[in-house]
Formats: sequence, structure tokens, C-alpha cells
Amino acid sequence: MTTTITDRYAAAKEALDAIDQGHVLKFYDELDEQQQDSLLTEIEGVDWPEVAALIETHVKNKPRFTLPGSIEPAPWYPYEVSDAVRAKYIEARRVGDQLIRDGKVAVFTVAGGQGSRLGWDGPKGTFPATPIRRLPLFACFAEYIHNIQKRYGVAIPWYVMTSPLNHADTVAFFEKNAWFGLKQENIMCFPQAMFPAIDLQTRQVLMSAKDAIALSPNGHGGSLKALYTSGAIADMLQRGVTQLSYTQVDNPIVRMVDPLFLGLHELDGADMSSKMLPKAYPKEKLGNICVVDGKVTVIEYTNLPDELAEQRDEDGELSFKCGNVALHALRVDFVEKLNTRPTETGTGGFALPWNRAEKKVAHIDLDSATPVKPETPNAIKLETFVFDALPLCETSIVYETDRVDEFAPIKNADTPEGEEAANDSPESSKQLQTERAARWLEANRVKVPRRADGTVDAVIEIPQVTAIYPEDLKDAKLPRAIEPGAEVLL
Ligand code: UD1
Repeated sequence: MTTTITDRYAAAKEALDAIDQGHVLKFYDELDEQQQDSLLTEIEGVDWPEVAALIETHVKNKPRFTLPGSIEPAPWYPYEVSDAVRAKYIEARRVGDQLIRDGKVAVFTVAGGQGSRLGWDGPKGTFPATPIRRLPLFACFAEYIHNIQKRYGVAIPWYVMTSPLNHADTVAFFEKNAWFGLKQENIMCFPQAMFPAIDLQTRQVLMSAKDAIALSPNGHGGSLKALYTSGAIADMLQRGVTQLSYTQVDNPIVRMVDPLFLGLHELDGADMSSKMLPKAYPKEKLGNICVVDGKVTVIEYTNLPDELAEQRDEDGELSFKCGNVALHALRVDFVEKLNTRPTETGTGGFALPWNRAEKKVAHIDLDSATPVKPETPNAIKLETFVFDALPLCETSIVYETDRVDEFAPIKNADTPEGEEAANDSPESSKQLQTERAARWLEANRVKVPRRADGTVDAVIEIPQVTAIYPEDLKDAKLPRAIEPGAEVLL
């Protein structure tokens, strides 16, 4: 039986009227057929009973964070290899290498965010990220995958989560770049679900046009459902992929496939694991990876009381030191189980907590249908976070990583010339990429010019097809020294 547009309209109207959001269809009769179809498709993509429930709990009310009774620092595997961990790391590295060689590892990039802080017109993955070639972020990841594929003689499937707002542009970018020389059949882009913005005063769903709801991506936590509903998990199972390496779109030097981390995660039988960076100072803006009631849990920096953030061990180190850098390893069957396990309503699935943010959301005025561009926050956006799945794990491990080796994210726009580069900006990322390249060259006995403050007096780029570890440069043709102020592309 085919569903007509009249049936779809009736179903949409019923769902919206039931929760007092009937205004979403206010302009329906003025729309042409295509616009009507597009609005109905948007309406059908939203879980309206959930919207109604969240308006009660998260819009009318501001949920308060209650500090759990028992919070302890999470234990972690250190980055530096010591006698205490050497034997385990050798075994983990062997296991990780084998997983990759056997085609059991896929990579997953979450790229559904709106990247509003960067102010880049286009999907963030298309942003030029490297210091000399200005290689876009997606191309950096593709080079990394090429390197791993060659090293292990295996195809690495790459899953990319987009959102309906940037999906077409993302796919077009991959197409324009001929899938960066990777096989198209090994790349799957799929959009995540969206959630409507709710007016702070009226508690009404905002409309961005007569035929469109003001929707935005439902947070990276939405990836755990989207992986399943898109068919990505089924595709992994069919390929024999058992482990997924989760990374964000903003970091050009991320180790997309880290055999040691994956090996530790596999050896310990973990469901979802995390990499951490030791926080540089107590209130650094990174989520804190802790243990709450025996479960690894991330507590946002805004929620960790100062006294805990500042607490130090006998050796003077921060007790709560593990900063979340949003790099995870996920068992494929863990994600599958989350989506299929029984719930109270018997429908199968899982729920992550929702996070509320007050934002400026452009919309149309419902009386005049004219555009409104608010100067101050006017709406609530709701998102779930992927790390909130950690407490759902039976086992979860934490592995330390190194800032310079793996963390040069691009999140904020550059500051005007002459001012010090903002943290996590294109400029700070370039400096970190140069610093990493310099260290790798110095490890290979190349003389690198450094200023009095220790920073590198040159711009250096090492493509990830050439090297993803310093030892990869062992047999490369390297200069003996780099001239001060030089630009060097290896
Ligand atoms: C995030 C983490 C923070 C961590 C930091 C490390 C949160 C709340 N915070 O901050 O703990 O220290 O990264 O770099 O996550 N995304 C989607 N869909 C969405 C929203 C986001 O795919 O609906 C993707 C983005 O495209 C991006 C990533 O998730 O790849 C991070 O998004 P963002 O919201 O910018 O988080 P951060 O502020 O970077």
C-alpha cells in the first residue's frame, strides 16, 4: 500500500497537534508540492514524543548536574613504556597489528557538526589544514589510510558521519577529489539525525523557513544510533570488521589507526575505550575521564568541582588528570548490542543523556514569516555526547597519548594578525604540526632551527603518506639541516 502525501500530512498533523506544535504546518497550504514533501520528510525524521518530553525536562526546566557520590580518577595506560607495562605493550601491539592485518579494523570520522566556531563556509573536513600544502582535513585522513593500507596490505573501510546539512557537500567533495585515490566502495558517508531548536520563551519548535524546521545535528552521541540505522554496522559485520576507531573531523594529525591502543582495548576485552591527554592545568577545557560507581565516565570540566580539579597526589601530579580528547575504540558488536537490546518499552535500543545549550538560532517570525536574526540566545539546542556511552560498557580502558604526536585540532577561527594564535585554531594547529615534524626530523639527526623560546624557526610538513611515526623517516632522503625561516615539504 502506498502512502499518499495526504496520508503523510494527516499523520504529521496528528503527531504535532498531540504535543501542541501544530504551527510547524502553518504555511503548508502555501507551499508547492516539492516544498510540502521536504517539510513532511523533516517532520517524519523527528521523534515528536521525545521532543515533547524534552521540552518538559530540558527547556521548561534546566536540569541540574548532581555530582555522583563516588568519583575516582580513572586508571590509565601510560604513553611512556616502562618495565611495568613493557611485556603487556609488546603483546598488545602484536594483537593490534594482527587485527589490522586481518581486516578487522575500520575507521570512523564524526563530521556532522556545524563547525560554527571556525566560520568556514562548507563542511569542516574540507578546511585546508596543513602548513604548506594546505591539504583539507579529509585529505589528511585519506593519506593516513593510504599509509596504513600499504603498511598492512589491507583495505581499511572508512565511515564518515555527516548531517543532512552538510551531507551533499561532503559527498560532492569526496567525488570531486576522486575519493582521494581510495576505493569508493570502502568509503561510506551517512547522515546523522537532527533535533529541532526550541524557542526559550514560547517553547515552540522554531521554523527556519515556511517549509523548513530549524533543525540541527543531535550531537556526536547520535553517531551510535546512526551507525546502526544507516546500515554501517551491518556493512562492518558483513566485512568481518570487529573494531572501530572513532575520531573527530578537526584533527589533521590524529592517529586514525593506532595498533597499540586497539591491541590494549582488544586484550582487555573492552567495549569502548578512550585516549586521554594529561591536563596541562586543573581547569583545562577537556572532559575529565573518571570512574563513577565503578564505571568509566566523563565529567565535563564545568561540572567537576574546583577542589577535585585541583586535588594533587603525593607526587604533586593532578589526581584528576585524564583529559578526554574524543578518540575512542569501539567494538562493533557493542554498538550493535546497544541498538538491539531490550528496553522498558520493549522496542530495543538505548538512551544517552541530553545536554542543553542556549544558542542564537535564526528563524522566521510565525505571524509575518519574515526572517529573525537574534542578537542574544533565543533557543535551546539539545545534543547527546558519545562519551556518555562509556558507563554502558562492561569494560573500558584509558590510554594516554601525547599532545604533539596526536593532537593539533582546528576548532576556533584564527585571531587577527599580530595577536597570539588562539588555542585550537588553524594557526596553533600549523605550529603543532611543524613542531611534530621537527621532533621527528631531530630524532633522525636533522638539525632544526629553533628560536630562543624553543619554537621552530621554519615551517615543516611531512605528508602522512610518507610517515606516521618518526622511524618511518629512517630511510627517507632527509636534509642534514633546515635553514632558519625555510619552508620544507618532505
Ligand atoms: C570535544 C569534546 C571535548 C574534547 C574535545 C577534544 C564534547 C562535548 N566535547 O569538544 O570533551 O576535549 O572534543 O577535541 O564533545 N559532531 C558531529 N555531530 C554533532 C556534533 C558534533 O558529528 O551533532 C562532531 C564534529 O563534527 C566534530 C566532533 O563531533 O568532529 C566534536 O564536536 P564539537 O561539538 O565541536 O566538540 P568540541 O567542542 O570540539
